[in-house]
Amino acid sequence: MSVTIKVNGAEHRLEIDGDTPLLWAIRDNLGLTGTKFGCGIAACGACTVHADGEAIRSCSVSVADAAGWDIRTIETLSEESLNPIQQAWLDLDVPQCGYCQSGMIMAATALINESRSPSDADIDEAMSNICRCGTYNRVRAAIHAAVRSI
Ligand code: FES
Ligand code: FES
Repeated sequence: MSVTIKVNGAEHRLEIDGDTPLLWAIRDNLGLTGTKFGCGIAACGACTVHADGEAIRSCSVSVADAAGWDIRTIETLSEESLNPIQQAWLDLDVPQCGYCQSGMIMAATALINESRSPSDADIDEAMSNICRCGTYNRVRAAIHAAVRSI
């Protein structure tokens, strides 16, 4: 079937099974490989993208359901310059292996777009992403640093 999705401001008409997870349309059809596959069951957050400004797990949404949404991926965050989250991630050396980090950054960006003064509890609630390297303390510190820099 034909499905049109809007990703990073551009519309793409795809010939694709509508049940295909949005993640695979983003990675395989559009070649945007910054969004990662981790678990495939909406548990880890490696596949986090924005849909109409909200962080969603693209492994668990069909591409047909995503038609009509304004989808943003990690590739769109730094088209002009690093956003405050990315800068804070660099300043505090947040990543270890890095695999989970694009999902972390997308979740964190959605959080600070919603709240410019998130508490530790707000961060813990919003950041349910899993990091096998255990970067959680640096993630929390970087979110606070990013908010201070805005
Ligand atoms: S790959 Fe989507 S939540 Fe883990
Ligand atoms: S930095 Fe390695 S999984 Fe998070």
